[in-house]
Amino acid sequence: MQIREACEYDAKRFAKMQLQIDGETDYMLYGAGEREISTKDAKKRLEYFADLPYSIILVAEDMETESLVGFLIADGNPPNRMQHSIYIAVGVLKDYWGQGVATRLFEHMETWARGRGIVRRIELGVLCENQKALRLYQKLGYEIEGTHRDSFMIGNEYYDTYWLSKLI
Ligand SMILES: CC(C)(COP(=O)(O)OP(=O)(O)OC[C@H]1O[C@@H](n2cnc3c(N)ncnc32)[C@H](O)[C@@H]1OP(=O)(O)O)[C@@H](O)C(=O)NCCC(=O)NCCS
Repeated sequence: MQIREACEYDAKRFAKMQLQIDGETDYMLYGAGEREISTKDAKKRLEYFADLPYSIILVAEDMETESLVGFLIADGNPPNRMQHSIYIAVGVLKDYWGQGVATRLFEHMETWARGRGIVRRIELGVLCENQKALRLYQKLGYEIEGTHRDSFMIGNEYYDTYWLSKLI
């Protein structure tokens, strides 16, 4: 398994992986089949992120199958007063859950964040019932700051999310 920064040449496989993850869990922002991502759109997004100093997209690549199996997006902020803070989104293909892929993506991201010299705060949101992800974040030192009430709607049901952060 290789963890590395995504590049424009990953576009097709990146789009495929994101859509597959949408369909494999209820815990991401988009539901199964809710969005389309063309290779062109994915390429544009990857190129855009590659040019930003304060954001990064990481991918996990299974070198045997040459497929992308996980991603982590660390999104920073341009204003001076927010440039010490980054927001994280992460997903791994179901077949690869429990194999340490997300842990490695986080480790890589934190190395990048520390290397920037300016990042102080890493934050993310998670559905309160997503125990697996919550355990992962807490294991990595992220602490719950509060609850966003009814911030997700899946079908006709509202769900709370926790907001977590880690100061580095
Ligand atoms: C949550 C997710 C990113 C974890 O990725 P992963 O690669 O399976 O995670 P890891 O293998 O690195 O596991 C890390 C930790 O997660 C927790 N974890 C993993 N599988 C678990 C399980 N079945 N039950 C409980 N905790 C579990 C453990 O704390 C584990 O640490 P440990 O192996 O030292 O015990 C992945 O399951 C996923 O993409 N799920 C669907 C999308 C999602 O929920 N994204 C997060 C939205 S906020």
